[in-house]
Amino acid sequence: MDIDSKEEDGFRVLLKQGAEARVFESTFMGRRSIIKERFSKKYRHPTLDSKLTLKRLNAEARCMTKARRLGVATPALYAVDPLLHTLTFEYIEGPSVKDVLLDFGLTGVVEERINDIAGQIGNAIGKLHDGGLVHGDLTTSNMLLQSSTNNLVLIDFGLSFTSTLSEDKAVDLYVLERALISMHSSCGNVMDRILVAYRKSSKQWCATLNKLAQVLRSWLPTA
Ligand SMILES: Nc1ncnc2c1ncn2[C@@H]1O[C@H](COP(=O)(O)OP(=O)(O)OP(=O)(O)O)[C@@H](O)[C@H]1O
Ligand SMILES: [Mg+2]
Repeated sequence: MDIDSKEEDGFRVLLKQGAEARVFESTFMGRRSIIKERFSKKYRHPTLDSKLTLKRLNAEARCMTKARRLGVATPALYAVDPLLHTLTFEYIEGPSVKDVLLDFGLTGVVEERINDIAGQIGNAIGKLHDGGLVHGDLTTSNMLLQSSTNNLVLIDFGLSFTSTLSEDKAVDLYVLERALISMHSSCGNVMDRILVAYRKSSKQWCATLNKLAQVLRSWLPTA
């Protein structure tokens, strides 16, 4: 079945059912695409629910567009449907950083690849943060590696917000550090390599990393 006939069939394949959104694979004008649908919360008043859902949908679209403007690769936004509460994006062909790091050592993922990925992650976050954007959910599943270019593409701006506070940026980095420690400790210290690139990319790295040190001191249990 080719892509166009799939579209005529209204083809949609559920990829992920989350607490707030469903993610489908589909086609948009003949192009492979992703549809992210925010669904209603039954316990909320219907009018309030619809307003909140729409607000979050627009916020996600705005933050993703802002990231692109700041020079960070994200999927192209194809459409926003305020009635169906959906965003339609370009489909990025390639594995997630999570999958690549989990394969480390198993299928010949070499140290240089990890260094390249860490460099791209640090560089991208530095650009976001200097532009006043906090991703809010920096996990390795929200980072894809486009197969054709090996370039990092950031996705899932559902928890993103604008902020110039170094504390917000530090918490963004802290979330990433925890995700790396819990999922990818076999890859060595990827966070240190990310921070080397972050320091090169962000002019405000000093204030953010000082805050990160404070956040780590106050949130980590003392031994
Ligand atoms: N543009 C894309 N191209 C390819 N795959 C994608 C794309 N967007 C999302 N995906 C896949 O769908 C999964 C879920 O998408 P996403 O992270 O946006 O939703 P979510 O985690 O459910 O969102 P939220 O945290 O806002 O509830 C991703 O981890 C990824 O595997
Ligand atoms: Mg996600």
